[in-house]
Amino acid sequence: MNAVQTHDRQAIPGIKDTLAVSSGKGGVGKSTLAANLAVALAGKGLRVGLLDADIYGPNIPGMFGLSGRPEMHESSGRIQPLAAHGITVISMGLLLDPGTPVIWRGPMLAKMIHQFLFNVNWGELDLLLLDLPPGTGDVQITLTQMAPITGALIVTTPSAIALEDVRRGVEMFRQTEVPLIGLVENMSYFSCDKCGHAEAIFGEGGGETTARHLDIPYLGQVPLDPLVGRQADAGEPIVQAHPDAASSQALLRLAGDVDSYFQSA
Ligand SMILES: Nc1ncnc2c1ncn2[C@@H]1O[C@H](COP(=O)(O)OP(=O)(O)O)[C@@H](O)[C@H]1O
Ligand SMILES: [Mg+2]
Repeated sequence: MNAVQTHDRQAIPGIKDTLAVSSGKGGVGKSTLAANLAVALAGKGLRVGLLDADIYGPNIPGMFGLSGRPEMHESSGRIQPLAAHGITVISMGLLLDPGTPVIWRGPMLAKMIHQFLFNVNWGELDLLLLDLPPGTGDVQITLTQMAPITGALIVTTPSAIALEDVRRGVEMFRQTEVPLIGLVENMSYFSCDKCGHAEAIFGEGGGETTARHLDIPYLGQVPLDPLVGRQADAGEPIVQAHPDAASSQALLRLAGDVDSYFQSA
């Protein structure tokens, strides 16, 4: 980890803050939370962009119902991002034919991330969200080296409390002096519509304990709600489609915490 250099960081012109959404493991809901946070923060009047940094497994276009191709300006080589639900979006998924696998090695990944940061016409943004792939691999190292990340959010589930994985991610941000906003526990419990009972399917207390162990703020829970997944598949994040759902309320609360963090930072 000491190989991570931060002197290559440059500001991205026009972008005020940059939030990394990160986790130790895959499938914990990073992309889902990033998509919902983007929409929730745009609803508060912020100008928001979303950079899908999961080059191998880009899920953001689907979650925003995007399928077009970004224009490339021949002369400048710059990329015109797409927009949906008020969010400016770039993703590897928009540059490839559907189903085409990306089989690049590290240096190509780094180049693409650099392009996405500095060669996209982001315009003026209050916040650029970075939806990260899981773990602490090439993309994370490249991003922490090149991008001025002003806050990182760690996502976990009660069962993915592979404390070691989360710890590695937290260590990476600490060593590269990226401020940690906190840890959020996703898929914490399922509330039965019919009887109102809340069942902690994947166990209880893991997120809070992990946050305490790692000495980072605990930002609370987002329930497991089938509608969250259905809305992701339908291309319209739940906070927009069903803002009154309990899961949306939890996501909106999280967006409030993120907003206050950047307001006071
Ligand atoms: N709170 C939630 N309730 C129900 N399903 C969820 C929730 N969060 C995420 N999911 C679903 O879990 C799966 C993995 O989420 P995703 O955001 O792709 O994870 P990651 O980006 O961490 O790999 C997706 O099918 C998504 O719809
Ligand atoms: Mg993802």
